[in-house]
Amino acid sequence: MVYEATATAPVNIACIKYWGKRDTKLILPTNSSLSVTLDQDHLRSTTTSRADESFEKGDRLWLNGKEEVVKPDGRLGVCIKELRNWRSVEEEKDSSLPKLSQWPLRIASYNNFPTAAGLASSASGLAALVASLARLYQLPQNASQLSLIARQGSGSACRSLFGGFVAWREGEKSDGSDSLAEEIEPQSHWPEMHAIICVVSDAKKGTSSTSGMQRTVETSTLLKERLKIVPERMKLISKAIKDKNFEEFAKITMKDSNSFHSVCLDTFPPIFYLNDVSKSIISVIEELNKSNGKIIAAYTFDAGPNAVIYSLKENIPKVLGAINKFFPTSEESKDPFKLTPVDLPENFDYK
Ligand code: ADP
Ligand code: DP6
Ligand code: CO
Repeated sequence: MVYEATATAPVNIACIKYWGKRDTKLILPTNSSLSVTLDQDHLRSTTTSRADESFEKGDRLWLNGKEEVVKPDGRLGVCIKELRNWRSVEEEKDSSLPKLSQWPLRIASYNNFPTAAGLASSASGLAALVASLARLYQLPQNASQLSLIARQGSGSACRSLFGGFVAWREGEKSDGSDSLAEEIEPQSHWPEMHAIICVVSDAKKGTSSTSGMQRTVETSTLLKERLKIVPERMKLISKAIKDKNFEEFAKITMKDSNSFHSVCLDTFPPIFYLNDVSKSIISVIEELNKSNGKIIAAYTFDAGPNAVIYSLKENIPKVLGAINKFFPTSEESKDPFKLTPVDLPENFDYK
């Protein structure tokens, strides 16, 4: 008998950014956040976990074919330990269950997009890990309960256990038991919402999210100002999603991305995640919205130079037209998503 399970998880891109921990060990955030989970067909992690009595002692994990060390008290180790504990509870309740909780694990994970490049690989990666182990162990816990574990692997991962529009509530308790993700609305509530991913660079970022946000918490005075604004933004964007008010959704998304990158600049030493191409994408979207007389596209950037543009389906051709006009894909580039900038004119014309 082979005990093996595979799960996939998509990335999620935050509109209200998580940036800062009040507890680094439990991964408790300094603010609530809200994201949109992309569909499974595009950017995703696929993870297979196998438990076997005959494996040599110790758990092992391979990411994109390369082994990552699983330290028992590290993030991967903590997630595995918590899920094992839940499995052993089931084994105690039902003695006919095989004792999978006592067997070593071998885990293989693949990302079908650049890892550690600011496209939320830690979100889909840790969510897929938790989902595959929950399936292997046949756990009864629901997605919100599993999000408590995924959160301890990578904060943003708790949101990737849900599709659609998802909030991560910061919670109040010091043990983190109320710091979990929940669905605001399913994808079917607003199926016209689309995301365009512009891969400006697939290189690994210089400052990981974990170390970047820690430095921000320690050195940025602007972060305190940001934390005052976020609760109101959470309310407003949740309402905008419920009302399907794209302009309001877009305005808050762009402002919060800008606020997050300002806080990065206010960190000492500063963190620059945006590059010149990222900034040009902001200008193109600004001009596109201006020339349409209303907001039809919203940019947002995670901890890297790559842009995600949210737009309603009917406006996607206009957005792609603008992006392709100013960032034609280079002929030599094997990567169809890679953007090559051209000089931006003073006045834009998207017709
Ligand atoms: P990103 O912007 O891609 O989320 P982070 O700096 O937050 O970048 O995290 C990248 C790290 O997340 C990787 O170095 C790796 O440790 C972990 N990670 C990414 N994908 C996976 C995966 N599929 N399985 C396990 N861990 C992963
Ligand atoms: C900018 O979840 O990658 O993407 O919890 O340390 O693993 P750790 O950080 P991570 O941070 C994500 C930061 C962000 C914003 C967001 O996804 O909310
Ligand atoms: Co991440």
